[in-house]
Amino acid sequence: MSVVDVKKIVKNIKNNLKEKVASLNEARLPKLVVILVGDNPASEKYVKGKEKDCAEVGFLTETIRLPEEIEEKALLEKVEELNEDMSVDGILVQLPLPSHIDEQKVIKKIKPDKDVDGFHPLNIGNLVLGLDGFVPCTPNGVIKILEEIGLDDLSGKKVLLVGRSNIVGKPLAHLLLKKHATLTIAHSKTTDLVKELKQADIVILAVGKAKLVTGEMLKKGAVLIDVGINVNDDGKLCGDADFDSCSEVCSLITPVPGGVGIMTRAMLLENTWQAFIKHEEIDDERMEL
Ligand code: GUN
Repeated sequence: MSVVDVKKIVKNIKNNLKEKVASLNEARLPKLVVILVGDNPASEKYVKGKEKDCAEVGFLTETIRLPEEIEEKALLEKVEELNEDMSVDGILVQLPLPSHIDEQKVIKKIKPDKDVDGFHPLNIGNLVLGLDGFVPCTPNGVIKILEEIGLDDLSGKKVLLVGRSNIVGKPLAHLLLKKHATLTIAHSKTTDLVKELKQADIVILAVGKAKLVTGEMLKKGAVLIDVGINVNDDGKLCGDADFDSCSEVCSLITPVPGGVGIMTRAMLLENTWQAFIKHEEIDDERMEL
């Protein structure tokens, strides 16, 4: 068994971005704006992490804090203002939003070329068709981890993806197909999860259920990527896998914390950089006119 050193992968990504930012002789730096509505402690924590990451690689960042009671219309206007602001490359509206706000309406309002979350229907559509666009950060992070551990081509591999959310499962399924995986998707209505698990060479867990999968459910030598971030009975973070028993059976496993979560944050930096590059090209073209 060995544990994937995701911290090392993230460090390389950040160092690479740091170098690129340092070599810019532009007046402008990449800028990410995060909108945080209300005071959900988990969201507050994520947002702090994003601010720290941006500062680390030299991106500009701003967090706009809005009250829980904000009207949908006012939030949409704020997004529109950021869409028009040429100094802003990436816009991220932290989810979940309060229940009186239509999340999809807000996501649709973000200009697709600033949608660094990759949640806009246009970006999701591009992903399904295999066209260029922003790829959601967690699925992109999972693919990056697979590439880093030598699983770039999944031809002939039986991959079991557990979870079908809009943010992780659905986009990840398309990315895995693009890598030629023989893919099975399991979810809450799957009748025999263990049977599916036993057959899989690669298992990706993205359901948000603490320690749902234990070692005896897996095929010996399987690779396990754990996307879940849950709080244990004793208040500690844990994944969807029972790490101790699974790590005895797996050939490779990602830890929680320090696994897919930090990779997701690194992918947000990558997407912000891509947005910046695209915007600079647009500016260059304008200058040539
Ligand atoms: N809330 C939890 N994860 C995410 C994410 O990846 N993006 C946004 N916008 N909100 C989240």
